[in-house]
Amino acid sequence: MTTMPPALSRAIDLLADPPADPDVTKGYLDLLADVPETDVTPKNTGVIQAAWASGLGSMLYDNAQAFARKLVSAWQLPIDWLDIPAGGVALDVGSGPGNVTASLARAAGADGLALGVDISEPMLARAVEAEAGPNVGFLRADAQQLPFRDGVFDAVTSLAVLQLIPDPSATIAEIARVLKPGGRVAIMVPTAGRGGEVLKWLPNGGVHFFTEDELGDAFEELGLVGVRTKTLGNIQWVRGRRP
Ligand SMILES: C[S@@+](CC[C@H](N)C(=O)[O-])C[C@H]1O[C@@H](n2cnc3c(N)ncnc32)[C@H](O)[C@@H]1O
Repeated sequence: MTTMPPALSRAIDLLADPPADPDVTKGYLDLLADVPETDVTPKNTGVIQAAWASGLGSMLYDNAQAFARKLVSAWQLPIDWLDIPAGGVALDVGSGPGNVTASLARAAGADGLALGVDISEPMLARAVEAEAGPNVGFLRADAQQLPFRDGVFDAVTSLAVLQLIPDPSATIAEIARVLKPGGRVAIMVPTAGRGGEVLKWLPNGGVHFFTEDELGDAFEELGLVGVRTKTLGNIQWVRGRRP
């Protein structure tokens, strides 16, 4: 019998529709294992997401992001701005190798909780191996349909993910929905630059490049306030909070 990690037990309390028989056999809570193909949200069939969904691609990404986060300030999470209270609850959407999720957990302290959601099993396996712990847990779910109740998170992050989502407006609306009043969100996306030019020539890159104001406008349309965007080279950060 698989024992339920404490962070996942706390995650289940936050779900809108908790499973009767939660599948945690791989160390993360798998909410997509029994979802029929007909029920699923639109899928990214492009080559970039295919890479992140493979063992080799997830390993290469993990090494590249660790390097980028050490060297490039534009990649670094605005953890102080997120203002996660001690004992707070934070969500990382498209958590990949899980190190951003773990930094949210450190900010929330021993009584806090940080959850990462991703769709890629190899990425989740890496995240569980490297970062899962008493207050860090991972779930397999689709960012276009977050499994949580309304208003449960003090902070939400989503870094280098929205460009891969077939319906990014659904994900942004979901993020706004799960934020508590006063909760803060920080999103990072790559912008079209030289890399974007290269990707345009791929037969199916499956990557969307947002225009300068697209995400900031979407935040405001959802009623988020204090919306700020900052573009640094090929990276854009968008921040806001729920009133
Ligand atoms: C470039 S990686 C970024 C990972 C991490 N946020 C970081 O900054 O290192 C993009 C991640 O988004 C995940 N992803 C893509 N589409 C998703 C979806 N519909 N739902 C959940 N995760 C998704 C991928 O599997 C991948 O792990």
